[in-house]
Amino acid sequence: MEIGTIGAGAFAQALAKRALKAGHKVKLSNDRGPDSLREIINQLGPGAMAATKEEAAACEMVLLAVPWDNVPSTLASLPKWKNQILIDGTNPFHGKAGKFTRADVGNLSTSQLIAALAPGARVVKALNTMIVPTLEADPIVNGARRVAFISADDDGAKRQVENLLTGFGYSVIYLGNLRDGGLIQQAGGPLAGRNLLEEGDRHK
Ligand SMILES: NC(=O)c1ccc[n+]([C@@H]2O[C@H](COP(=O)([O-])OP(=O)(O)OC[C@H]3O[C@@H](n4cnc5c(N)ncnc54)[C@H](OP(=O)(O)O)[C@@H]3O)[C@@H](O)[C@H]2O)c1
Repeated sequence: MEIGTIGAGAFAQALAKRALKAGHKVKLSNDRGPDSLREIINQLGPGAMAATKEEAAACEMVLLAVPWDNVPSTLASLPKWKNQILIDGTNPFHGKAGKFTRADVGNLSTSQLIAALAPGARVVKALNTMIVPTLEADPIVNGARRVAFISADDDGAKRQVENLLTGFGYSVIYLGNLRDGGLIQQAGGPLAGRNLLEEGDRHK
């Protein structure tokens, strides 16, 4: 599968490494344009490509990996969504690393807000609970699988992201729809930042 990333920072690069290891192709995009991504693409190796935001967003599955403050303007700058899956990996923090403050998203989960800003996309909340070192670490530790949480309103999109993450080696737990599951896994929720392992192989 071809996975697009909107944002090509630490988080998108970690996802790209994992996806490349699992045999997928990844089109990374950022704000400054494809030329600025040459070194990153070289480091990621075969299967990684620099793309415009529009090219990345046209992939069947797209990771949103921009800082929270940039989410509205980034989504507004993209072409109309045509049913692609949009993985919301964001966490609602203002500012930059080291100086984060939690953003107020009102009465919505972050993914509900993103779904409202990206009509036509099938939004799935995933991977936001994994910090970069966790995403880069082995998904299987002493036979136990790292747990990845997902929340979604669209059943087909949920299944596809579940398959992607299972293919990475994770044990996937579906938490519910974008509102209920989203609130559990987003920053401030009980599963935010949790790095859990599941023993046994329920995928056999
Ligand atoms: N870092 C983590 O451990 C981690 C873990 C889970 C979730 N997350 C979430 O993932 C998101 C990204 O975090 P990060 O650590 O990867 O941040 P980062 O390293 O600062 O990277 C941000 C990326 O977003 C791009 N960007 C900003 N505005 C954009 C726009 N309008 N259009 C396209 N690209 C744009 C930047 O492009 P330029 O470089 O061209 O400006 C950069 O590539 C955040 O919401 C964060 O909460 C991070």
